[in-house]
Amino acid sequence: MPEISVIDLRLLTTMPDWLNAATGLDALTHAIEAFVSRAHNPLTNNHALHAVELITANLVRTQVDPRDFEARLAMAQAALEAGMAFTNAILGATHAMSHQVGGLLDAPHGVVNGVLLPHVIRFNAEAWPERFVALGAAAGLPVSGVPAQEVAEQLADLVRALADDVGVPKGLASLGVAERDVPVLAPTTLKDACMATNPGEVDVRDVETLFRKAL
Ligand SMILES: [Fe+2]
Repeated sequence: MPEISVIDLRLLTTMPDWLNAATGLDALTHAIEAFVSRAHNPLTNNHALHAVELITANLVRTQVDPRDFEARLAMAQAALEAGMAFTNAILGATHAMSHQVGGLLDAPHGVVNGVLLPHVIRFNAEAWPERFVALGAAAGLPVSGVPAQEVAEQLADLVRALADDVGVPKGLASLGVAERDVPVLAPTTLKDACMATNPGEVDVRDVETLFRKAL
């Protein structure tokens, strides 16, 4: 962890599109996983929700116009706040799975997260749907009178739509993950430190199912 961070939006304006997409979706994953983490607290909640609001409103703008400084500033702040949330609340199954894929194939971390996150949202919402209502509201979804499970489903769809908008592939297969890799990736996923704070219980069959859905 850094002792000092310099947040300067000018440094972001020359990022290639794929890196902008990957880092933006990674920051969104940090915020969502920190918010639903078992180790969340009122301070990390505030940072996580604000990061979700900023990212869902500004990531596409930075992709369309790389010199949109207002959107760049919002993304810089969002990445910082998501970082402040997750370095205190830790993460969850998306990162636990993504670390294995990154280690096996050297695939871009944020792109892998972008593919996995909607699947993990749906899985975790089965255990704790209420936790996703505030996240849905932060992402701009209508939540009043909407069942929590439905909000979580719409949040998963919104994340997938955002991934589409910034050019992230639909599945892990296009990043080089094959069916034969699933039995290798699943057991080590359970040993990843991020799994300790995932909101729901996860066993090796759950992880295999999630990987197969994400292929
Ligand atoms: Fe990450």
